[in-house]
Amino acid sequence: MNQHLQVLLTFFQDSPHLSPEEKATLLKSLKDVDKDLEIALFKLDRTEKVKRTTAILLEETIEELENKRKAIEETNAALSRSLDELKAAQTQLIQSEKMASLGELTAGIAHEIQNPLNFVNNFSEVSAELLDEMKDELAKGNTQDAMDMAEDIKQNLQKILIHGKRADGIVKGMLQHSRKSTGQKEPTDINALADEYLRLAYHGIRAKDNSFNATLKTDFDPAIGLINVIPQDIGRVILNLITNAFYAVSTMTPYPLKGGPDYQPTVTVTTKYQHPLSGGRGSEESGVQWVTISVSDNGPGIPSHILDKIFQPFFTTKPTGQGTGLGLSLSYDIVKAHGGELKVETKEGEGSVFTIQLPVS
Ligand SMILES: Nc1ncnc2c1ncn2[C@@H]1O[C@H](COP(=O)(O)OP(=O)(O)O)[C@@H](O)[C@H]1O
Ligand SMILES: [Mg+2]
Repeated sequence: MNQHLQVLLTFFQDSPHLSPEEKATLLKSLKDVDKDLEIALFKLDRTEKVKRTTAILLEETIEELENKRKAIEETNAALSRSLDELKAAQTQLIQSEKMASLGELTAGIAHEIQNPLNFVNNFSEVSAELLDEMKDELAKGNTQDAMDMAEDIKQNLQKILIHGKRADGIVKGMLQHSRKSTGQKEPTDINALADEYLRLAYHGIRAKDNSFNATLKTDFDPAIGLINVIPQDIGRVILNLITNAFYAVSTMTPYPLKGGPDYQPTVTVTTKYQHPLSGGRGSEESGVQWVTISVSDNGPGIPSHILDKIFQPFFTTKPTGQGTGLGLSLSYDIVKAHGGELKVETKEGEGSVFTIQLPVS
């Protein structure tokens, strides 16, 4: 029993003024108090222990949190390093995709330059002959004939100049494609751009495989005029879509593969200006006007189970070495960067239509 209670107990037990019954009652009360006290002490002790344990746990938790914070910091640093590496790799990929498409173009460009070059060569030869004849006529004193020949030569020289300029334009276009994009928007003739790439891509594929044949169709809306875009970038998108379309139709032949005996591979490029009042897309809200460039083919179409994958980087169904799987993903990024949309409609067995939709600012 608690020692203070013990003192009280001794005091009561020795008291002559208390009856034995009163002493018994007091003893019971004292014992009850003692029990309560003991319980209270026990509880206090337990609380202390809990407090100490909690403090230890808290310390451990703090330490653990600190460790975690450090780990996260390290992970962040590692992530940021990988991000930098990824960015570098991406830049390189874009460059190699660009080089690949330039390779595809080379044959087309050579073909395109061949025509003006032939003109230049022929007209130069003819003019040299004309000059000889002119000298003869002059020697004979036939000034009128000599004058006529001089006029012919002048016209030939003009033709040489026109075709020389055409070759010059083609080479400049090629350089523009291989050059790093200026990243600058400039007023661009979308119809001319699409036409140029359609022909280059076609001659490119024909140079590699001269059995390849396709009908090219164009339907250009003259109302488009000049559109503010980054021409090298939009040119690449158009080229990617056209190259894919040619590949798609090329898989349909030779018969009896898929196309059937009357199959005529056809690639069509269509441009359209959505007039604000024509009820076309975009005219409903805020007067935004759109230009659409569509590339359609009557190839095999795209199976629905891969349709949501085709815009992913590296997704390709082409044999190794034939596809990078980057064309559509890069195209998608370029069109998005122009504030536009790149969409596809396709029907298995019938073909595909890829549509670039660009806002006109
Ligand atoms: N016109 C098309 N017709 C059918 N499939 C297409 C067409 N265009 C793209 N695809 C599909 O989308 C895939 C990804 O295209 P792309 O990103 O240009 O990469 P790649 O041409 O290198 O394969 C192609 O491998 C093909 O499966
Ligand atoms: Mg492609």
